[in-house]
Amino acid sequence: EDVDKGAYRHYMHKEIHEQPRALADSLQDRHTGARVLEDGLGFHARGLVKRVRAIHLVACGTSHHAGLVARYWLEAMTGLPCSVELASEFRYRLPAVPRGCLFVGISQSGETADTLAALRYAKESGYLSTLAICNVAESSLMREADLGLLTRAGPELGVASTKAFTTQLSALLLLTALLSRRNGPIASAEGSILRRLAGAPAAVEAALRLEPQIEKLARQIARHNHALFVGRGPMYPVAQEGALKLKEISYIHAEAYAAGELKHGPLALVDEHMPVIALAPHNDCLDKLQSNLQEIAARGGRIHVFADRACGMEDGPGMQVIAMPEADELLAPLSYTVALQLLAYHVALLRGTDVDRPRNLAKSVTVE
Ligand code: G6P
Repeated sequence: EDVDKGAYRHYMHKEIHEQPRALADSLQDRHTGARVLEDGLGFHARGLVKRVRAIHLVACGTSHHAGLVARYWLEAMTGLPCSVELASEFRYRLPAVPRGCLFVGISQSGETADTLAALRYAKESGYLSTLAICNVAESSLMREADLGLLTRAGPELGVASTKAFTTQLSALLLLTALLSRRNGPIASAEGSILRRLAGAPAAVEAALRLEPQIEKLARQIARHNHALFVGRGPMYPVAQEGALKLKEISYIHAEAYAAGELKHGPLALVDEHMPVIALAPHNDCLDKLQSNLQEIAARGGRIHVFADRACGMEDGPGMQVIAMPEADELLAPLSYTVALQLLAYHVALLRGTDVDRPRNLAKSVTVE
């Protein structure tokens, strides 16, 4: 490990703070402002947009969560059907591959055994083409896929993935922008997505400035042995990622639920010992989410809600609000994830775990 921690105690903390730069680097020279430079994906990318009819995203762990977020974007903005699957499941079943389907393997390391096996399987399964979204240029995944989109997060040494995830999201937004071109120049969202995406480093920077408040919240969460994360829409997989970060490094049992599913089970768990962390950016689901939160509060739950300032949510009985900077809805998955990374980090510090090398886990799972 020849990367210096600098002023930071842990690689994870350093890597969380590197995200504005990692995002700026990952977006550099990828587009003209109006159009994605498709050659950046490799020579065979030319003409791809016209031929793609469907997308399969396959990955493990945090990279799988990036795929789950991207499905919301891809289907809404390209009109292409998109499915997301764990590599360990995909590789052992017989997937129905629709005509013109693009296989996308997402991986920080490019060496995860299941993701690599999934790619090899895909290459024999009649896909239109295979694309690797990866953080290591010389990895097996990048070498073996037909196309590659490199994230430029730099070396990630903390076992819990942070900057790799947000740069994967930026790469998946580039892919969304590129494929939106198929809707024709008038309907295309390409330029608009790219303009909004350019705000990613600043949006993440603004979330990082909340660290003092998040540290205070961590003191409350660290006292518990369980936590529930809830969100709707793309914030549901962000909740899944927040729960994963917390369990990986603090060993607190954490679960994520789509807020609309609370009535189907998790409400039974709600009491003062089960803090609920809710994600409330300013979007179409806000009213629905607020009524879900009221149901939790009415049952004696303690809610900590990360809410966009523009939502006007305020502290109330059982509800504590952490005001997030006003942000473009498209970028909320990035900025809210950063807030949850900081939360997990500070909880882990308080619980005295080995933040960079949590027990029983490996940075790259190269054997099955
Ligand atoms: C391990 C790491 C995770 C990572 C996952 C997938 O479980 O601890 O942080 O998300 O592998 O790794 P990959 O390199 O394929 O993204």
